[in-house]
Amino acid sequence: MIPEPAVIEARTGVLVLAAGTPVYAAGEDAGARRVAGILREWTQRIGGPDLALADRPPRGTAVRLVRRQDLGPEAYRLSISAHGARIEARSDAGLLYGAATLWQLIPPGTASAAIPAQTISDAPAYPWRGLMLDSARHFQSVADVKSVIEWMSWHKLNVLHWHLTDDQGWRLEIRKYPRLTQVGAWRVPATVGREPVARVGGFYSQAEVREIVAYAAEHAVTIVPEIDVPGHAQAAIAAYPSLGAGEDPAPTVSARWGIHTYLLNPEEATLRFLEDVFEEVVQLFPGPYVHVGGDEVVRDEWRRSARVVARLHELGIADVDGLQPYFTARLGRFLAAHGRRLVGWDEILRPGLPADAVVMSWHGTSGARAAALAGNDAVLAPWPTLYLDNRQSSLPQEPTGRTQVVSLEDVYRFAPEDPSLPAHARAHVRGVQGNLWTEHIPTRDMLEWMALPRAAAIAELGWTPAARRDWRGFLQRLAATRPRYAALGLHAADSAFAVHASLQAAPGHLEVRLGNQSHVGTIRYTADGREPTADSAAYGDSIEVAPGATLAAATFLGAQRLSGTWTQRTDAASLARRNSRELELCSDGVGLLLDARGGTAEAAPLALDIMDPCWIYRGADLSAGPGFRVRAVPLPFNFELAADLAHVKLGSPRGAAAELEVHVGSCQAPPAAVLALDGTPSPQVLRGALPAATERRDVCLRFARPTIDPLWALDWVELGVAAP
Ligand code: ACM
Repeated sequence: MIPEPAVIEARTGVLVLAAGTPVYAAGEDAGARRVAGILREWTQRIGGPDLALADRPPRGTAVRLVRRQDLGPEAYRLSISAHGARIEARSDAGLLYGAATLWQLIPPGTASAAIPAQTISDAPAYPWRGLMLDSARHFQSVADVKSVIEWMSWHKLNVLHWHLTDDQGWRLEIRKYPRLTQVGAWRVPATVGREPVARVGGFYSQAEVREIVAYAAEHAVTIVPEIDVPGHAQAAIAAYPSLGAGEDPAPTVSARWGIHTYLLNPEEATLRFLEDVFEEVVQLFPGPYVHVGGDEVVRDEWRRSARVVARLHELGIADVDGLQPYFTARLGRFLAAHGRRLVGWDEILRPGLPADAVVMSWHGTSGARAAALAGNDAVLAPWPTLYLDNRQSSLPQEPTGRTQVVSLEDVYRFAPEDPSLPAHARAHVRGVQGNLWTEHIPTRDMLEWMALPRAAAIAELGWTPAARRDWRGFLQRLAATRPRYAALGLHAADSAFAVHASLQAAPGHLEVRLGNQSHVGTIRYTADGREPTADSAAYGDSIEVAPGATLAAATFLGAQRLSGTWTQRTDAASLARRNSRELELCSDGVGLLLDARGGTAEAAPLALDIMDPCWIYRGADLSAGPGFRVRAVPLPFNFELAADLAHVKLGSPRGAAAELEVHVGSCQAPPAAVLALDGTPSPQVLRGALPAATERRDVCLRFARPTIDPLWALDWVELGVAAP
């Protein structure tokens, strides 16, 4: 079970749930009947017993959903005996959580499930167990959003923070301002070396939002809509240029990532516009919270604008630093008048913040601490640990995202509890939230991979009492949950279990070491290219293989396979080649894994630091030949970096075209080879030669380019091959 319940008492006996076993909820209890329907549907979906719905008290073995008023708002009690299962709760949410726990005890693919008798008394540690879904950077369909809500619910995650607007898209239909979605919901992606592809985007109609809100309510998920102001608002300004604060001509909806400089202006008409927007937002979203963003407001545009400075005087505000609090206060008053509480990123934490405002701490946990000490409620959503756009391993299999590794264990070991906070402040920390930013997550499969199982770890942080959290136990329970993900078609990452390898050449053979991130299970391998199975050889400390063998390995727990297959050919050509994800980046400025496809067939993302495109091949064997080959790929430089733009390293190309510099020993050594690119913005393979070396050397490869766009990335390099 994930999350681990608060109290489990084993009893004697076994409950058998079979086809036709009734799930009973009283006919007049619509909420309980809905939960009974969900339990039946979920059980069918995993190939479990085909349960029957009953609205009259059944005789004999049954699952019974019963109200019990003395339990807490989300608590439940699940009693399982040989005669049936009884789920008791005060609320619909509690009944759903009890049903989710029972469902997790039904193994997938068993038409008749035997469940050990036990009594579970359970309630959450924190009331806010959130996931932020960014639908602005990449748009998800209604079905995709519902799927997220569904898996959140059975992990007992209860807040979907829905990031609906940003520089790259406005996703919410607002009746009074149709251009917000007619214009603001669409952008033309950045490309390099060819015509832009068709525009991308989409938006949620108000009817679709109502459908999603209703679906969320049935799954005990509260939606907190976010309209991000006064920064991250370029899509709105593209739709209605009079909202902007800059002198520049009206922007387009951005196809760039990062921190944009366009800001809303503080005119009364703009505040009225926002109130109109929030008026429709509160009509659509019945939950108690509305998020107004407030992050990353670079104030340069305000500072430069004579009109904004004049407006400051009209408002009696001393300087531009007082403008964001002005937006927050105005919107806070508006929301309070509509019975809602304002939520904002931790930048809203300024003197004068309304007492009921909720601060979402993303600059680490300091925002939550400061908010709690000031008497405001806070939610922990710290960069980098709970940012699910960070990759979860350094394996080549990880999809596009950030190169920073935040492993499942990193997430699991995040401690929401802050013992140094005084007791009165501790109660203000309302919970935890994972943030699923989608700049680099265009598809549902990738979304699920980035979210799961790390969101399962977050669910346990938010639900399970600290004393019962246990990393090794969690891994065992996760292993048991993987068939459930698979049965539901959820594309959960295997990164915690996937095989990593290091290969060392020895006289006449290769020495191979295998491992996995979480040290769970047994690694089994073959050296003849066959798919490893539960009967393949078990890996011990190391293996020796003859050069030329094809290795394959995977992690198993008993007969269960926990990971995909790692493969490696060990012929000389394969060993000479490394792709960008297998090299070390020279720096950690803004490390990204970027999509290199750009309309071609390549699928694997490229790893690079966009501040300084430079890679290190450690300990390269240059003895077989002085030749090398490199594949270079141009990428659009579609990044907004504000003041950091000045720190992008272009290098010093000797000619008019971009160049690849190859250094041996260290990146600081004079280049041993310099190759000019052919001047076209298209992928190309470069060939060169390095001085001969008998011992292993580090080789550093970096691009120098005359213009910031395009950005050149290394796809792969082969070292120590025959001279060109
Ligand atoms: C944020 O990551 N800009 C809240």
